[in-house]
Amino acid sequence: MFTMRVPLSIISTACFIHAILALHNGLAVKPPMGWNPYNVFLCDTDESQYRAAAKDLVASALPSVGYNYFNLDCGWQGTNRTANGTFTWNTTRIPSGVPALGSYVHSLGLKFGVYSDAGYYSCDFVNGAAHWLGSLGHEAADAAAFTSWGADYLKYDNCYSVNETDFVDYNPPFNLEPHFTAMRDALSRTSRPVVYSVCEWGVQDPARWAPAVGNSWRISNDIGPPNSWDNVLRIINQVVPITGFAGPGAWNDLDLLEVGNAEMTVPEQKSHFSFWAAIKSPLLISTDLSRPSQDTLDILGNKRIIALNQDDLGKSISFQRRYTNDYDVWSGPLADGSTVALVLNWKNQSRSLTFNLSDVGFTSAKATDLWSGKDLGIIRNSYTTNISAHGPLVLRLSHTTPSPAPRFTYYPASASKNTLSGGASPRTANSSVTVVGDIGNGGTLTFTGVDGGSSGGSKLVSIDYINADYTMRNTDCSNCRNAFVSVNGGPAQQVQMPLSGQVSFTASSD
Ligand SMILES: *[C@@H]1O[C@H](CO)[C@@H](O)[C@H](O)[C@H]1NC(C)=O
Ligand SMILES: *[C@@H]1O[C@H](CO)[C@@H](O)[C@H](O)[C@H]1NC(C)=O
Ligand SMILES: *[C@@H]1O[C@H](CO)[C@@H](O)[C@H](O)[C@H]1NC(C)=O
Ligand SMILES: *[C@@H]1O[C@H](CO)[C@@H](O)[C@H](O)[C@H]1NC(C)=O
Ligand SMILES: *[C@@H]1O[C@H](CO)[C@@H](O)[C@H](O)[C@H]1NC(C)=O
Ligand SMILES: *[C@@H]1O[C@H](CO)[C@@H](O)[C@H](O)[C@H]1NC(C)=O
Ligand SMILES: *[C@@H]1O[C@H](CO)[C@@H](O)[C@H](O)[C@H]1NC(C)=O
Ligand SMILES: *[C@@H]1O[C@H](CO)[C@@H](O)[C@H](O)[C@H]1NC(C)=O
Repeated sequence: MFTMRVPLSIISTACFIHAILALHNGLAVKPPMGWNPYNVFLCDTDESQYRAAAKDLVASALPSVGYNYFNLDCGWQGTNRTANGTFTWNTTRIPSGVPALGSYVHSLGLKFGVYSDAGYYSCDFVNGAAHWLGSLGHEAADAAAFTSWGADYLKYDNCYSVNETDFVDYNPPFNLEPHFTAMRDALSRTSRPVVYSVCEWGVQDPARWAPAVGNSWRISNDIGPPNSWDNVLRIINQVVPITGFAGPGAWNDLDLLEVGNAEMTVPEQKSHFSFWAAIKSPLLISTDLSRPSQDTLDILGNKRIIALNQDDLGKSISFQRRYTNDYDVWSGPLADGSTVALVLNWKNQSRSLTFNLSDVGFTSAKATDLWSGKDLGIIRNSYTTNISAHGPLVLRLSHTTPSPAPRFTYYPASASKNTLSGGASPRTANSSVTVVGDIGNGGTLTFTGVDGGSSGGSKLVSIDYINADYTMRNTDCSNCRNAFVSVNGGPAQQVQMPLSGQVSFTASSD
């Protein structure tokens, strides 16, 4: 029997420093909600499609629960500026012009969003061949043009940021932040309030700097296409270390919603939507609303789940515990003093699941199931329910009794009595912390002298770690690492560690 808490590092670029500055443009005090065409129409859009989509959004009644922004994405832009340098649109695709389209959107009672790019050209879906206008070097003129067209929102993408031939660069050789601050400053010099959505794909830790730049920042590569559950998992793993950076006016953007699109099951779409809502991502519908299914409307329209997103406190949920290959537990505070607990079933089968209240710090609580609205009364210690394959359990907990915090003994990974082998080596993180890196691929770290108590059995173990090697593509363990932990030479237990932070698991020594 033993207890330990160990710092352990795999690579050493962390992003734990909390941003202090915020943009404070008074906008997006709650995460923006609306519609964007990309996940359904890619960049292949024209005016009649936009007008129909705006009408469909209104007809769906979803604006009445908060989806008020109608945003353009790529595809409508021109390739050449006017003689005086003004941004233009493709007159074949948008015959009556973007200002008229904006007026139409406004006439429906919606807000209007446009799209541009922080590089030489914008993104497209033809391998960079379209060469639609980007705003780099034209920020003042473009901010003036977009606001004169009635824009209320700007999504600002990151293609061709390095030079005129480098389409998509996930490792640009310079600091991207000035590209995004230039447009922030240009927008602030116009007289129109514009929600500013930084779309840097998470390549240079935008959570560290973007709270002072935009109202939201994309934390990851695109959610699709293709639409898949694996993309949802990749993005969930990537947000783990940065949930604390979000707050009113400055949000982690997990990308557009896939609710209503083919490929994910209804329970998977509910998990995706619950997570995006509770983490306080912008909620941008990106499906064809001309004939939405009842499931689509029920998911997007669930007021109890939307209320998590629009809660006055503006605090993101944070990662609590992963039961590897089993389920996740996340939770966070709400304005009325209650707590949201979110459980995600990683098993691709429906089954009974027991949610342990101690994983969110309570011994008892009054609970409401937020998908069904059912009052579950007082739950004590744990709650057992049936959960769908890849489905969510979302509970609002009030009248809570806190559970005693677990007491840990701290064991530094770099202590001299530990054994490193197979290339594992200590490295200095800063003047007071030394970690152990190069674990895995044959490298092992063995703790010795861990207090296991006198009677054996199970103990809670918690590991601090830094990984931070984010990925733009899906892998077996996208944005996570698998650790294999064995006690007293016993069988190895798999412990999945999302991007960076701390994981807890129960280890047995019998
Ligand atoms: C318009 O832009 C395209 C692509 O950037 C460029 O190849 C072309 O020379 C431009 N045409 C004019 C008339 O400037
Ligand atoms: C530039 O020209 C366009 C028409 O081509 C006009 O709408 C716009 O007002 C002009 N902008 C400036 C800054 O002169
Ligand atoms: C404008 O849109 C039309 C219709 O989609 C397309 O054929 C044409 O290539 C586009 N022009 C430019 C300059 O992108
Ligand atoms: C563009 O940037 C890429 C990536 O840094 C570089 O490999 C390439 O040589 C650059 N091309 C030009 C024309 O500067
Ligand atoms: C989940 O299981 C179903 C049915 O067996 C299968 O069709 C689907 O591909 C599985 N989903 C994933 C993401 O593996
Ligand atoms: C819940 O967690 C506590 C603390 O780790 C543990 O003592 C208890 O056995 C767990 N309950 C269930 C039902 O797993
Ligand atoms: C779970 O589903 C099974 C089979 O449908 C049912 O017998 C059981 O009562 C359900 N359990 C709960 C806690 O709802
Ligand atoms: C070193 O890193 C630790 C862990 O992130 C942190 O708590 C501590 O403040 C840092 N110390 C210095 C001197 O930067």
